[in-house]
Amino acid sequence: MLIGAGGMLAAGNDPAMDPLLSKAVYDQHCAACHGSNGDGNGPAAVWLYPKPRDFSAGQFKIKSTPGQALPTDEDLLRSISRGLPGSSMPGFAYLTESDLRDLVQYVKHLTAYTDNSGRQINRFEEAAASGVRVQSVVVPPEPAATVQVLAQGREVYQRMQCNLCHGESGAGDGPQVPTLRDYAGLPAPPRDFNTGLFRGGHTGADLYQRIHNGLPGTPMIPYGSEVMTSEERWALVHYVRSLRRTDVAVSDLLMPEDGRIRVQRVARLITDPMDRAWEQFDPVRVPLNPLWPEPQQVYAVAVTAVTDGRKLALLLHWRDELPQHTAIRVQDFQDAAAVQFSMTGEYGFIGMGDAQHPVNLWHWKAGAQAELAGRGEPAMEDAYPSLRVDGWIPASFNTAADAGNVTALPHKSPIEDANARGFGSFRPQPPAQQNVLGNGVWHDGNWNVVFIRDLKSKDKDDVKFTETQPVPIAFAIWNGEQGDRNGRKMVSNWFQLQFDPAKSRATKR
Ligand code: HEC
Ligand code: HEC
Repeated sequence: MLIGAGGMLAAGNDPAMDPLLSKAVYDQHCAACHGSNGDGNGPAAVWLYPKPRDFSAGQFKIKSTPGQALPTDEDLLRSISRGLPGSSMPGFAYLTESDLRDLVQYVKHLTAYTDNSGRQINRFEEAAASGVRVQSVVVPPEPAATVQVLAQGREVYQRMQCNLCHGESGAGDGPQVPTLRDYAGLPAPPRDFNTGLFRGGHTGADLYQRIHNGLPGTPMIPYGSEVMTSEERWALVHYVRSLRRTDVAVSDLLMPEDGRIRVQRVARLITDPMDRAWEQFDPVRVPLNPLWPEPQQVYAVAVTAVTDGRKLALLLHWRDELPQHTAIRVQDFQDAAAVQFSMTGEYGFIGMGDAQHPVNLWHWKAGAQAELAGRGEPAMEDAYPSLRVDGWIPASFNTAADAGNVTALPHKSPIEDANARGFGSFRPQPPAQQNVLGNGVWHDGNWNVVFIRDLKSKDKDDVKFTETQPVPIAFAIWNGEQGDRNGRKMVSNWFQLQFDPAKSRATKR
Protein backbone atom coordinates (compact mmCIF):
# COMPACT_ATOMS: atom_id res chain seq x y z
CA MET A 1 0.00 0.00 0.00
CA LEU A 2 1.28 3.43 -0.90
CA ILE A 3 1.77 6.00 1.77
CA GLY A 4 0.92 9.54 0.75
CA ALA A 5 2.04 12.88 2.03
CA GLY A 6 2.16 12.99 5.80
CA GLY A 7 1.88 9.23 6.09
CA MET A 8 -1.78 9.23 5.04
CA LEU A 9 -3.26 6.83 2.57
CA ALA A 10 -2.93 8.11 -0.94
CA ALA A 11 -6.10 8.76 -2.89
CA GLY A 12 -7.48 5.90 -4.88
CA ASN A 13 -5.52 3.22 -3.05
CA ASP A 14 -8.11 2.53 -0.45
CA PRO A 15 -11.14 0.88 -2.02
CA ALA A 16 -13.32 2.27 0.76
CA MET A 17 -12.51 5.73 -0.49
CA ASP A 18 -13.50 5.79 -4.12
CA PRO A 19 -13.21 9.52 -4.83
CA LEU A 20 -15.95 9.36 -7.44
CA LEU A 21 -18.49 8.48 -4.74
CA SER A 22 -18.02 11.94 -3.27
CA LYS A 23 -18.66 13.72 -6.56
CA ALA A 24 -22.28 14.38 -5.58
CA VAL A 25 -21.28 16.04 -2.30
CA TYR A 26 -18.62 18.04 -4.09
CA ASP A 27 -20.98 19.12 -6.87
CA GLN A 28 -23.53 20.25 -4.32
CA HIS A 29 -21.30 22.22 -1.96
CA CYS A 30 -18.11 23.13 -3.80
CA ALA A 31 -18.57 23.17 -7.58
CA ALA A 32 -20.29 26.59 -7.81
CA CYS A 33 -17.00 28.13 -6.69
CA HIS A 34 -14.27 25.60 -7.51
CA GLY A 35 -15.85 24.32 -10.75
CA SER A 36 -17.02 20.77 -11.24
CA ASN A 37 -13.60 19.84 -12.63
CA GLY A 38 -11.81 21.74 -9.84
CA ASP A 39 -10.26 24.42 -12.08
CA GLY A 40 -11.44 27.22 -9.76
CA ASN A 41 -13.82 28.57 -12.40
CA GLY A 42 -17.27 27.73 -11.09
CA PRO A 43 -20.16 30.06 -11.99
CA ALA A 44 -19.78 32.00 -8.71
CA ALA A 45 -16.05 32.61 -9.21
CA VAL A 46 -16.52 35.94 -11.02
CA TRP A 47 -17.91 37.38 -7.78
CA LEU A 48 -15.02 36.21 -5.69
CA TYR A 49 -11.63 37.55 -4.77
CA PRO A 50 -9.31 35.86 -3.91
CA LYS A 51 -10.33 33.32 -6.53
CA PRO A 52 -11.39 29.80 -5.51
CA ARG A 53 -8.43 27.45 -5.62
CA ASP A 54 -7.67 25.74 -8.92
CA PHE A 55 -6.99 22.26 -7.53
CA SER A 56 -5.21 21.09 -10.69
CA ALA A 57 -2.43 23.59 -9.90
CA GLY A 58 -1.61 21.47 -6.84
CA GLN A 59 -1.00 24.60 -4.74
CA PHE A 60 -2.26 24.57 -1.16
CA LYS A 61 -1.64 27.43 1.23
CA ILE A 62 -2.59 25.90 4.52
CA LYS A 63 -0.51 22.90 5.47
CA SER A 64 1.61 21.46 8.22
CA THR A 65 4.23 20.12 5.80
CA PRO A 66 7.40 21.99 4.82
CA GLY A 67 8.29 23.76 1.58
CA GLN A 68 6.50 22.69 -1.59
CA ALA A 69 5.32 19.38 -0.06
CA LEU A 70 1.62 18.63 -0.50
CA PRO A 71 -0.67 18.94 2.53
CA THR A 72 -1.65 15.96 4.67
CA ASP A 73 -5.20 14.64 4.68
CA GLU A 74 -5.65 16.21 8.11
CA ASP A 75 -4.56 19.61 6.74
CA LEU A 76 -7.15 19.41 3.96
CA LEU A 77 -9.81 18.15 6.35
CA ARG A 78 -9.19 21.11 8.60
CA SER A 79 -9.31 23.65 5.76
CA ILE A 80 -12.57 22.21 4.45
CA SER A 81 -14.16 21.89 7.85
CA ARG A 82 -13.26 25.34 9.21
CA GLY A 83 -12.91 27.28 5.98
CA LEU A 84 -10.29 29.95 5.25
CA PRO A 85 -11.40 32.90 7.45
CA GLY A 86 -11.16 36.25 5.71
CA SER A 87 -11.85 34.69 2.29
CA SER A 88 -15.09 33.44 0.77
CA MET A 89 -14.07 29.82 1.46
CA PRO A 90 -16.79 28.78 3.94
CA GLY A 91 -16.39 26.27 6.75
CA PHE A 92 -18.22 22.97 6.25
CA ALA A 93 -18.19 21.68 9.82
CA TYR A 94 -21.91 20.94 9.41
CA LEU A 95 -21.23 18.09 6.96
CA THR A 96 -20.73 14.61 8.38
CA GLU A 97 -17.21 13.50 9.18
CA SER A 98 -17.44 10.83 6.49
CA ASP A 99 -18.56 13.39 3.86
CA LEU A 100 -15.67 15.62 4.89
CA ARG A 101 -13.18 12.76 4.57
CA ASP A 102 -14.60 11.83 1.17
CA LEU A 103 -14.25 15.45 0.07
CA VAL A 104 -10.57 15.37 1.03
CA GLN A 105 -10.09 12.41 -1.32
CA TYR A 106 -12.08 14.10 -4.03
CA VAL A 107 -10.01 17.30 -3.83
CA LYS A 108 -6.86 15.17 -4.10
CA HIS A 109 -8.39 13.42 -7.10
CA LEU A 110 -8.96 16.84 -8.74
CA THR A 111 -5.27 17.74 -8.47
CA ALA A 112 -4.66 15.48 -11.47
CA TYR A 113 -2.89 16.98 -14.45
CA THR A 114 -2.33 15.56 -17.95
CA ASP A 115 1.26 14.57 -18.72
CA ASN A 116 2.95 14.59 -22.16
CA SER A 117 1.63 11.16 -23.04
CA GLY A 118 -1.92 12.28 -22.23
CA ARG A 119 -2.08 10.35 -18.94
CA GLN A 120 -3.96 11.80 -15.95
CA ILE A 121 -1.57 12.09 -13.03
CA ASN A 122 -2.88 12.59 -9.52
CA ARG A 123 -0.26 14.72 -7.79
CA PHE A 124 -0.75 13.00 -4.44
CA GLU A 125 -0.33 9.52 -5.90
CA GLU A 126 2.67 10.73 -7.84
CA ALA A 127 4.33 12.08 -4.71
CA ALA A 128 3.57 8.87 -2.84
CA ALA A 129 4.89 6.70 -5.69
CA SER A 130 8.15 8.62 -5.81
CA GLY A 131 8.68 7.49 -2.24
CA VAL A 132 8.79 10.96 -0.70
CA ARG A 133 7.54 10.71 2.84
CA VAL A 134 6.55 14.05 4.16
CA GLN A 135 5.95 14.65 7.83
CA SER A 136 4.11 17.47 9.50
CA VAL A 137 6.49 20.02 10.97
CA VAL A 138 6.80 19.53 14.72
CA VAL A 139 5.86 22.68 16.60
CA PRO A 140 7.90 23.07 19.80
CA PRO A 141 6.00 24.08 22.95
CA GLU A 142 4.75 27.67 23.02
CA PRO A 143 6.86 30.00 25.18
CA ALA A 144 5.19 32.74 27.21
CA ALA A 145 4.77 36.10 25.48
CA THR A 146 7.01 38.16 27.74
CA VAL A 147 8.17 41.71 27.01
CA GLN A 148 11.58 40.28 26.03
CA VAL A 149 9.99 37.79 23.62
CA LEU A 150 7.95 40.56 21.98
CA ALA A 151 11.04 42.77 21.63
CA GLN A 152 12.90 39.86 20.06
CA GLY A 153 9.93 39.27 17.72
CA ARG A 154 10.02 42.87 16.60
CA GLU A 155 13.74 42.62 15.92
CA VAL A 156 13.29 39.45 13.80
CA TYR A 157 10.33 41.05 11.97
CA GLN A 158 12.59 43.93 10.89
CA ARG A 159 15.65 41.77 10.18
CA MET A 160 13.62 39.33 8.01
CA GLN A 161 11.95 42.30 6.31
CA CYS A 162 8.43 41.10 7.00
CA ASN A 163 7.62 44.84 7.08
CA LEU A 164 8.35 45.23 3.36
CA CYS A 165 5.12 43.38 2.67
CA HIS A 166 3.15 43.35 5.92
CA GLY A 167 3.97 46.97 6.83
CA GLU A 168 5.55 48.55 9.92
CA SER A 169 2.37 48.25 11.98
CA GLY A 170 1.34 44.97 10.35
CA ALA A 171 -1.53 46.56 8.42
CA GLY A 172 -0.52 44.75 5.22
CA ASP A 173 0.61 48.01 3.62
CA GLY A 174 4.36 47.56 3.08
CA PRO A 175 6.13 49.16 0.08
CA GLN A 176 6.29 45.89 -1.91
CA VAL A 177 2.53 45.39 -1.95
CA PRO A 178 1.89 46.73 -5.50
CA THR A 179 4.33 44.18 -6.96
CA LEU A 180 3.00 41.08 -5.19
CA ARG A 181 1.32 38.40 -7.33
CA ASP A 182 0.10 34.86 -6.71
CA TYR A 183 0.78 31.74 -8.84
CA ALA A 184 -1.96 32.77 -11.29
CA GLY A 185 -0.54 36.26 -11.73
CA LEU A 186 -3.27 37.95 -9.67
CA PRO A 187 -2.51 40.57 -6.99
CA ALA A 188 -1.71 38.89 -3.65
CA PRO A 189 -2.25 41.34 -0.79
CA PRO A 190 -0.27 40.42 2.35
CA ARG A 191 -2.24 39.58 5.46
CA ASP A 192 -3.33 42.52 7.59
CA PHE A 193 -2.21 41.49 11.09
CA ASN A 194 -4.34 44.25 12.68
CA THR A 195 -7.47 42.20 12.03
CA GLY A 196 -6.21 39.05 13.73
CA LEU A 197 -7.90 37.07 10.95
CA PHE A 198 -5.84 34.25 9.49
CA ARG A 199 -6.73 31.83 6.71
CA GLY A 200 -5.08 28.94 8.50
CA GLY A 201 -6.22 29.67 12.07
CA HIS A 202 -5.06 32.10 14.72
CA THR A 203 -3.52 29.84 17.37
CA GLY A 204 0.20 30.08 18.07
CA ALA A 205 0.82 26.65 16.50
CA ASP A 206 -1.11 27.65 13.35
CA LEU A 207 0.96 30.80 12.87
CA TYR A 208 4.20 28.96 13.67
CA GLN A 209 3.46 26.53 10.84
CA ARG A 210 2.43 29.28 8.39
CA ILE A 211 5.72 31.11 8.97
CA HIS A 212 7.76 27.89 8.87
CA ASN A 213 6.05 26.46 5.77
CA GLY A 214 5.04 29.60 3.89
CA LEU A 215 1.87 29.84 1.82
CA PRO A 216 2.69 28.05 -1.47
CA GLY A 217 1.50 29.80 -4.60
CA THR A 218 1.81 33.23 -2.91
CA PRO A 219 4.76 35.60 -2.24
CA MET A 220 4.74 34.37 1.38
CA ILE A 221 7.84 32.14 1.32
CA PRO A 222 8.75 29.62 4.04
CA TYR A 223 10.97 30.81 6.87
CA GLY A 224 12.47 27.45 7.87
CA SER A 225 15.47 26.48 9.96
CA GLU A 226 17.93 27.85 7.35
CA VAL A 227 16.91 31.40 8.21
CA MET A 228 15.79 31.33 11.83
CA THR A 229 15.71 29.27 15.02
CA SER A 230 12.47 27.93 16.43
CA GLU A 231 12.87 30.38 19.31
CA GLU A 232 13.00 33.29 16.86
CA ARG A 233 9.96 31.92 15.01
CA TRP A 234 7.95 31.73 18.23
CA ALA A 235 9.00 35.31 19.05
CA LEU A 236 7.70 36.33 15.61
CA VAL A 237 4.42 34.53 16.23
CA HIS A 238 3.91 36.45 19.46
CA TYR A 239 4.89 39.72 17.82
CA VAL A 240 2.49 39.14 14.91
CA ARG A 241 -0.33 38.38 17.34
CA SER A 242 0.46 41.52 19.35
CA LEU A 243 -0.27 43.58 16.22
CA ARG A 244 -3.96 42.72 16.40
CA ARG A 245 -6.06 45.77 17.13
CA THR A 246 -8.52 45.07 19.90
CA ASP A 247 -11.30 47.00 18.18
CA VAL A 248 -11.39 44.39 15.45
CA ALA A 249 -12.92 41.04 16.29
CA VAL A 250 -11.38 37.66 15.45
CA SER A 251 -14.02 35.60 13.76
CA ASP A 252 -12.85 32.26 15.17
CA LEU A 253 -13.21 33.49 18.72
CA LEU A 254 -16.80 34.51 18.21
CA MET A 255 -18.09 31.26 16.73
CA PRO A 256 -20.58 29.58 19.07
CA GLU A 257 -19.27 26.04 19.48
CA ASP A 258 -22.40 24.27 18.35
CA GLY A 259 -23.31 26.79 15.63
CA ARG A 260 -26.76 27.27 17.16
CA ILE A 261 -28.88 30.38 17.52
CA ARG A 262 -31.46 29.71 20.21
CA VAL A 263 -34.85 31.36 19.93
CA GLN A 264 -35.69 32.91 23.30
CA ARG A 265 -39.22 32.86 24.68
CA VAL A 266 -40.73 36.26 25.48
CA ALA A 267 -44.16 37.18 26.82
CA ARG A 268 -44.40 40.21 24.54
CA LEU A 269 -42.76 40.17 21.10
CA ILE A 270 -39.98 42.75 20.72
CA THR A 271 -40.50 44.55 17.40
CA ASP A 272 -38.58 47.81 17.81
CA PRO A 273 -34.88 47.37 16.95
CA MET A 274 -33.98 49.88 19.67
CA ASP A 275 -36.08 48.30 22.42
CA ARG A 276 -33.93 47.81 25.55
CA ALA A 277 -35.68 44.48 26.06
CA TRP A 278 -33.29 42.93 23.48
CA GLU A 279 -30.43 43.51 25.91
CA GLN A 280 -31.56 40.79 28.31
CA PHE A 281 -30.32 38.20 25.77
CA ASP A 282 -26.74 37.48 24.69
CA PRO A 283 -26.61 37.76 20.92
CA VAL A 284 -24.80 35.09 18.92
CA ARG A 285 -21.86 36.64 17.10
CA VAL A 286 -21.91 35.29 13.57
CA PRO A 287 -18.59 35.74 11.73
CA LEU A 288 -18.78 37.14 8.20
CA ASN A 289 -16.41 36.51 5.32
CA PRO A 290 -15.97 39.00 2.50
CA LEU A 291 -16.49 37.67 -1.02
CA TRP A 292 -14.20 40.45 -2.22
CA PRO A 293 -11.55 42.44 -0.29
CA GLU A 294 -13.49 44.97 1.74
CA PRO A 295 -11.74 48.09 3.03
CA GLN A 296 -14.60 48.54 5.52
CA GLN A 297 -15.10 44.92 6.34
CA VAL A 298 -17.88 43.98 8.73
CA TYR A 299 -16.40 41.13 10.76
CA ALA A 300 -19.49 39.82 12.44
CA VAL A 301 -23.21 40.32 12.78
CA ALA A 302 -24.78 39.89 16.22
CA VAL A 303 -28.02 37.91 16.03
CA THR A 304 -30.78 37.64 18.65
CA ALA A 305 -33.97 35.63 18.06
CA VAL A 306 -37.15 35.78 20.14
CA THR A 307 -40.66 34.34 19.89
CA ASP A 308 -43.91 34.93 21.72
CA GLY A 309 -45.18 31.57 20.50
CA ARG A 310 -46.90 33.14 17.49
CA LYS A 311 -44.26 35.20 15.73
CA LEU A 312 -40.52 35.08 15.30
CA ALA A 313 -38.49 38.29 15.60
CA LEU A 314 -34.83 38.29 14.55
CA LEU A 315 -32.56 41.21 15.44
CA LEU A 316 -29.41 41.75 13.35
CA HIS A 317 -26.92 44.24 14.74
CA TRP A 318 -23.70 45.21 12.97
CA ARG A 319 -21.14 47.97 12.90
CA ASP A 320 -21.37 50.44 10.03
CA GLU A 321 -19.84 53.88 10.53
CA LEU A 322 -21.66 55.51 7.63
CA PRO A 323 -25.19 54.43 6.75
CA GLN A 324 -26.16 54.38 3.07
CA HIS A 325 -29.89 54.61 2.89
CA THR A 326 -30.56 57.49 0.53
CA ALA A 327 -33.30 56.92 -1.96
CA ILE A 328 -31.11 58.13 -4.81
CA ARG A 329 -29.92 55.17 -6.85
CA VAL A 330 -31.88 52.84 -4.64
CA GLN A 331 -30.69 49.89 -6.69
CA ASP A 332 -27.04 50.68 -6.11
CA PHE A 333 -24.79 50.74 -3.14
CA GLN A 334 -27.22 50.68 -0.29
CA ASP A 335 -26.77 49.03 3.06
CA ALA A 336 -28.69 45.79 3.18
CA ALA A 337 -28.99 42.53 5.07
CA ALA A 338 -30.38 39.12 4.19
CA VAL A 339 -31.35 36.08 6.19
CA GLN A 340 -31.33 32.76 4.35
CA PHE A 341 -33.24 29.67 5.54
CA SER A 342 -32.99 26.18 4.13
CA MET A 343 -36.48 25.02 3.12
CA THR A 344 -35.63 21.33 3.50
CA GLY A 345 -33.99 21.34 6.91
CA GLU A 346 -30.80 20.15 5.19
CA TYR A 347 -27.72 22.16 4.36
CA GLY A 348 -27.85 22.99 0.70
CA PHE A 349 -25.25 25.03 -1.12
CA ILE A 350 -24.38 28.01 1.11
CA GLY A 351 -24.68 30.50 -1.77
CA MET A 352 -28.50 30.60 -2.20
CA GLY A 353 -29.18 26.88 -2.06
CA ASP A 354 -29.33 24.43 -4.93
CA ALA A 355 -31.89 22.56 -7.02
CA GLN A 356 -32.57 19.97 -4.30
CA HIS A 357 -32.33 22.47 -1.45
CA PRO A 358 -34.29 25.66 -2.14
CA VAL A 359 -33.90 28.53 0.30
CA ASN A 360 -36.24 31.23 1.59
CA LEU A 361 -34.58 34.67 1.74
CA TRP A 362 -35.61 37.73 3.74
CA HIS A 363 -33.92 40.74 2.22
CA TRP A 364 -33.91 44.10 4.00
CA LYS A 365 -32.68 47.16 2.10
CA ALA A 366 -32.00 50.53 3.72
CA GLY A 367 -32.83 52.40 0.51
CA ALA A 368 -36.17 50.65 0.10
CA GLN A 369 -36.98 51.53 3.68
CA ALA A 370 -36.05 55.19 3.21
CA GLU A 371 -38.28 55.30 0.16
CA LEU A 372 -41.18 53.80 2.09
CA ALA A 373 -40.70 56.40 4.77
CA GLY A 374 -41.71 58.88 2.12
CA ARG A 375 -38.38 60.25 1.06
CA GLY A 376 -38.45 60.44 -2.68
CA GLU A 377 -35.94 63.24 -2.45
CA PRO A 378 -32.82 62.83 -0.38
CA ALA A 379 -33.53 64.74 2.80
CA MET A 380 -31.02 66.53 5.01
CA GLU A 381 -30.99 63.55 7.31
CA ASP A 382 -29.92 61.35 4.43
CA ALA A 383 -26.98 63.49 3.45
CA TYR A 384 -26.08 63.97 7.11
CA PRO A 385 -27.64 60.95 8.74
CA SER A 386 -29.52 61.71 11.87
CA LEU A 387 -29.11 59.36 14.76
CA ARG A 388 -32.37 57.63 14.10
CA VAL A 389 -33.92 56.57 10.85
CA ASP A 390 -37.54 55.92 11.50
CA GLY A 391 -38.51 53.05 9.36
CA TRP A 392 -41.67 51.21 8.90
CA ILE A 393 -43.52 49.07 11.37
CA PRO A 394 -47.15 49.17 10.38
CA ALA A 395 -49.38 50.81 12.93
CA SER A 396 -51.79 47.99 12.29
CA PHE A 397 -49.14 45.42 13.03
CA ASN A 398 -51.13 43.66 15.73
CA THR A 399 -54.42 43.74 13.91
CA ALA A 400 -54.28 43.11 10.19
CA ALA A 401 -51.09 41.09 10.36
CA ASP A 402 -52.29 39.08 13.33
CA ALA A 403 -55.50 38.26 11.53
CA GLY A 404 -53.31 36.65 8.88
CA ASN A 405 -54.55 39.16 6.35
CA VAL A 406 -51.42 39.25 4.27
CA THR A 407 -53.02 41.25 1.50
CA ALA A 408 -53.31 44.04 4.03
CA LEU A 409 -49.55 44.21 3.79
CA PRO A 410 -48.84 44.80 0.12
CA HIS A 411 -45.15 45.16 -0.61
CA LYS A 412 -44.80 47.94 1.89
CA SER A 413 -42.38 46.18 4.12
CA PRO A 414 -38.74 47.15 3.61
CA ILE A 415 -38.13 43.39 3.68
CA GLU A 416 -38.58 41.32 0.57
CA ASP A 417 -39.63 37.70 0.95
CA ALA A 418 -37.93 35.71 -1.78
CA ASN A 419 -36.71 32.29 -2.85
CA ALA A 420 -33.73 30.85 -4.62
CA ARG A 421 -32.64 27.48 -5.91
CA GLY A 422 -29.00 28.08 -6.47
CA PHE A 423 -26.52 30.82 -7.07
CA GLY A 424 -28.01 33.76 -8.98
CA SER A 425 -31.61 32.48 -8.98
CA PHE A 426 -33.13 35.09 -6.62
CA ARG A 427 -36.91 35.30 -7.14
CA PRO A 428 -39.12 37.62 -5.08
CA GLN A 429 -42.47 36.18 -4.01
CA PRO A 430 -45.61 37.79 -5.48
CA PRO A 431 -47.03 40.74 -3.48
CA ALA A 432 -49.80 38.64 -1.91
CA GLN A 433 -47.19 36.28 -0.46
CA GLN A 434 -45.05 39.03 1.10
CA ASN A 435 -45.42 38.44 4.82
CA VAL A 436 -42.15 39.44 6.44
CA LEU A 437 -42.25 42.70 8.33
CA GLY A 438 -39.53 44.70 9.91
CA ASN A 439 -37.58 47.81 10.37
CA GLY A 440 -33.99 49.04 10.51
CA VAL A 441 -32.58 51.77 12.71
CA TRP A 442 -29.10 53.17 12.34
CA HIS A 443 -27.80 54.47 15.64
CA ASP A 444 -24.33 55.46 16.78
CA GLY A 445 -22.40 53.65 14.08
CA ASN A 446 -24.52 50.50 14.07
CA TRP A 447 -27.41 49.12 12.08
CA ASN A 448 -30.14 47.37 14.06
CA VAL A 449 -32.61 45.54 11.85
CA VAL A 450 -35.58 43.47 12.98
CA PHE A 451 -37.22 40.80 10.79
CA ILE A 452 -40.67 39.53 11.86
CA ARG A 453 -42.84 36.72 10.56
CA ASP A 454 -45.64 34.51 11.86
CA LEU A 455 -44.24 31.17 13.00
CA LYS A 456 -46.91 29.48 10.91
CA SER A 457 -47.25 30.14 7.22
CA LYS A 458 -49.36 28.27 4.72
CA ASP A 459 -47.31 29.67 1.86
CA LYS A 460 -45.47 26.78 0.19
CA ASP A 461 -42.51 29.05 -0.55
CA ASP A 462 -42.05 30.03 3.09
CA VAL A 463 -39.71 28.32 5.52
CA LYS A 464 -41.59 26.35 8.18
CA PHE A 465 -40.65 26.74 11.84
CA THR A 466 -41.25 23.92 14.29
CA GLU A 467 -40.10 23.40 17.84
CA THR A 468 -38.60 20.02 17.11
CA GLN A 469 -36.51 20.62 14.01
CA PRO A 470 -33.76 23.26 13.90
CA VAL A 471 -33.68 25.30 10.69
CA PRO A 472 -30.40 25.96 8.85
CA ILE A 473 -29.90 29.74 8.71
CA ALA A 474 -27.23 32.00 7.18
CA PHE A 475 -26.66 35.75 6.87
CA ALA A 476 -25.36 38.32 4.40
CA ILE A 477 -24.52 42.00 4.86
CA TRP A 478 -23.96 44.61 2.15
CA ASN A 479 -22.07 47.79 2.96
CA GLY A 480 -23.22 50.41 0.45
CA GLU A 481 -20.44 52.79 1.35
CA GLN A 482 -17.82 50.54 -0.20
CA GLY A 483 -19.85 49.79 -3.28
CA ASP A 484 -21.37 46.48 -2.19
CA ARG A 485 -24.27 45.31 -4.27
CA ASN A 486 -25.61 42.03 -5.61
CA GLY A 487 -22.88 39.44 -5.23
CA ARG A 488 -20.49 41.83 -3.50
CA LYS A 489 -21.21 41.26 0.15
CA MET A 490 -20.08 39.61 3.35
CA VAL A 491 -21.53 36.21 4.15
CA SER A 492 -21.69 33.78 7.04
CA ASN A 493 -21.50 30.02 7.11
CA TRP A 494 -24.60 27.95 7.95
CA PHE A 495 -25.91 28.16 11.50
CA GLN A 496 -28.98 26.51 13.06
CA LEU A 497 -32.00 28.35 14.33
CA GLN A 498 -33.19 26.30 17.27
CA PHE A 499 -36.48 26.69 19.08
CA ASP A 500 -36.23 25.75 22.72
CA PRO A 501 -35.94 21.94 22.60
CA ALA A 502 -36.06 21.50 26.39
CA LYS A 503 -39.50 23.05 26.58
CA SER A 504 -40.99 21.24 23.65
CA ARG A 505 -39.69 17.92 24.98
CA ALA A 506 -41.11 18.69 28.40
CA THR A 507 -44.53 19.44 26.96
CA LYS A 508 -44.49 16.21 24.99
CA ARG A 509 -43.83 14.00 27.97
C1 HEC B 1 -18.17 30.49 -1.89
C2 HEC B 1 -17.09 29.90 -2.64
C3 HEC B 1 -16.47 28.62 -2.16
C4 HEC B 1 -17.09 27.43 -1.86
C5 HEC B 1 -18.56 27.12 -1.87
C6 HEC B 1 -16.03 26.50 -1.54
N1 HEC B 1 -14.82 27.11 -1.63
FE1 HEC B 1 -13.03 26.25 -1.26
N2 HEC B 1 -12.10 28.00 -1.57
C7 HEC B 1 -12.73 29.17 -1.97
C8 HEC B 1 -11.75 30.22 -2.09
C9 HEC B 1 -12.02 31.65 -2.51
C10 HEC B 1 -10.51 29.65 -1.75
C11 HEC B 1 -9.16 30.34 -1.72
C12 HEC B 1 -9.00 31.21 -0.50
C13 HEC B 1 -7.67 31.85 -0.46
O1 HEC B 1 -6.90 31.71 -1.40
O2 HEC B 1 -7.37 32.48 0.54
C14 HEC B 1 -10.76 28.25 -1.45
C15 HEC B 1 -9.78 27.35 -1.08
C16 HEC B 1 -10.00 25.99 -0.89
C17 HEC B 1 -8.98 25.03 -0.59
C18 HEC B 1 -7.51 25.31 -0.48
C19 HEC B 1 -6.99 25.41 0.93
C20 HEC B 1 -5.52 25.71 0.91
O3 HEC B 1 -4.80 25.18 1.74
O4 HEC B 1 -5.06 26.47 0.05
C21 HEC B 1 -9.59 23.81 -0.48
C22 HEC B 1 -8.92 22.48 -0.20
C23 HEC B 1 -11.00 24.02 -0.70
N3 HEC B 1 -11.22 25.35 -0.93
C24 HEC B 1 -11.94 23.02 -0.69
C25 HEC B 1 -13.31 23.25 -0.81
C26 HEC B 1 -14.30 22.21 -0.71
C27 HEC B 1 -14.00 20.74 -0.55
C28 HEC B 1 -15.51 22.82 -0.84
C29 HEC B 1 -16.88 22.20 -0.74
C30 HEC B 1 -17.14 21.38 0.44
C31 HEC B 1 -15.26 24.23 -1.04
N4 HEC B 1 -13.91 24.45 -1.02
C32 HEC B 1 -16.25 25.18 -1.22
C33 HEC B 1 -14.06 29.35 -2.20
C34 HEC B 1 -15.04 28.39 -2.00
C1 HEC C 1 7.30 39.26 -0.19
C2 HEC C 1 6.22 39.67 0.67
C3 HEC C 1 6.11 39.01 2.03
C4 HEC C 1 7.07 38.92 3.00
C5 HEC C 1 8.49 39.44 2.98
C6 HEC C 1 6.42 38.26 4.11
N1 HEC C 1 5.14 37.96 3.82
FE1 HEC C 1 3.81 37.06 5.06
N2 HEC C 1 2.43 37.08 3.59
C7 HEC C 1 2.59 37.65 2.36
C8 HEC C 1 1.40 37.48 1.58
C9 HEC C 1 1.16 37.98 0.17
C10 HEC C 1 0.50 36.77 2.39
C11 HEC C 1 -0.91 36.32 2.03
C12 HEC C 1 -0.87 35.12 1.13
C13 HEC C 1 -2.23 34.76 0.65
O1 HEC C 1 -3.01 34.19 1.43
O2 HEC C 1 -2.51 35.05 -0.51
C14 HEC C 1 1.18 36.54 3.65
C15 HEC C 1 0.62 35.89 4.73
C16 HEC C 1 1.21 35.78 5.97
C17 HEC C 1 0.57 35.23 7.14
C18 HEC C 1 -0.87 34.73 7.19
C19 HEC C 1 -1.10 33.26 7.41
C20 HEC C 1 -2.58 32.95 7.45
O3 HEC C 1 -2.94 31.87 7.96
O4 HEC C 1 -3.39 33.74 6.99
C21 HEC C 1 1.46 35.34 8.17
C22 HEC C 1 1.26 34.92 9.60
C23 HEC C 1 2.65 35.93 7.64
N3 HEC C 1 2.47 36.19 6.30
C24 HEC C 1 3.78 36.21 8.39
C25 HEC C 1 4.94 36.73 7.84
C26 HEC C 1 6.15 36.94 8.60
C27 HEC C 1 6.30 36.69 10.09
C28 HEC C 1 7.07 37.42 7.73
C29 HEC C 1 8.54 37.72 7.99
C30 HEC C 1 9.29 36.59 8.52
C31 HEC C 1 6.44 37.53 6.43
N4 HEC C 1 5.16 37.11 6.56
C32 HEC C 1 7.07 37.99 5.31
C33 HEC C 1 3.72 38.30 1.88
C34 HEC C 1 4.90 38.40 2.56
